[in-house]
Amino acid sequence: MSSFAFKPANTYTIPEIADLLTRGFEGYYVPIHINEAALLTMLRRDGVDLTESRILLKDDEPIGVGLIARRGWTSRLAAMGIVSIARNSGAGTWAMKNLVEEARARGDHEMFLEVIEQNTAGVKLYQKFGFKSIRRLVGYKLENPQVESEQQLEEIDIRELARLVAYHGLKDLPWQLSGASIMQHTPPSRAFRLHDAYCLISDPSAVHVAIWSVLVKAGSRGAGLSPVLMRAVFSRFPEKTWHVPALYPEEICAVFEEIGMQREEISQWQMTLTL
Ligand SMILES: CC(C)(COP(=O)(O)OP(=O)(O)OC[C@H]1O[C@@H](n2cnc3c(N)ncnc32)[C@H](O)[C@@H]1OP(=O)(O)O)[C@@H](O)C(=O)NCCC(=O)NCCS
Repeated sequence: MSSFAFKPANTYTIPEIADLLTRGFEGYYVPIHINEAALLTMLRRDGVDLTESRILLKDDEPIGVGLIARRGWTSRLAAMGIVSIARNSGAGTWAMKNLVEEARARGDHEMFLEVIEQNTAGVKLYQKFGFKSIRRLVGYKLENPQVESEQQLEEIDIRELARLVAYHGLKDLPWQLSGASIMQHTPPSRAFRLHDAYCLISDPSAVHVAIWSVLVKAGSRGAGLSPVLMRAVFSRFPEKTWHVPALYPEEICAVFEEIGMQREEISQWQMTLTL
């Protein structure tokens, strides 16, 4: 008999959940430290529903977390971590079985997730429940590009960019790049426009800057607008290290190659399960 049980995550405090997530991701492929602020940002941006997220208990002790984000009929496994001493003994399998059953019971149609390709335990776990890869998601990096551009960028409201991403972007964009998530970004992040090309970057006063969105309106694609935009952004904010999180569909990454960014070693599978 299994001694596992679930409790709704909203019966725990934010610091308790943050601590359990940090421990659940100990020894991960990229260092993960979730503090209270980082967790609050994740909940807000990505639509995580704590009442449907679960703390996993073994013999009444919390040993893991499964965060569930929800939008309409779709849910996403936003994080799943089991503390290291409890791994590889069926905990993840028990948790996934129940998370999938709960999603079906509440009437969801589809569940998404992303998993690092090299994460054998994670990939095996999700495949076991019927999750299928839709595409590979990749990331890029570039330190201190030497670029000069005469192009004039126009700063726009992030909300305007989010509306365009929802309208012009791929329908099944990874959750964190979708219009609904982009809509939750706020200053000091900033959005820029050059003709029909748009982008969203994290606070450009920091040394490390993330590129959260790059979009060309559907009717203007194929004219090479996005590299021109990105070079103008690099020129406006010199001496930065630029990061493209490993969340971008491989098939739309030509722009990053073209502007000389280097591909990160870590890549992910975007996976889906029809419920
Ligand atoms: C991924 C994770 C959630 C899986 O939970 P778990 O309790 O270890 O999983 P289980 O014991 O139920 O094992 C699931 C499958 O993975 C396999 N597996 C587990 N650990 C493994 C390892 N280190 N190497 C290879 N396979 C492994 C198991 O054999 C099992 O496959 P099987 O049913 O075909 O035998 C857990 O290992 C974890 O929290 N890792 C760190 C955080 C993380 O990677 N989260 C996922 C992010 S998407």
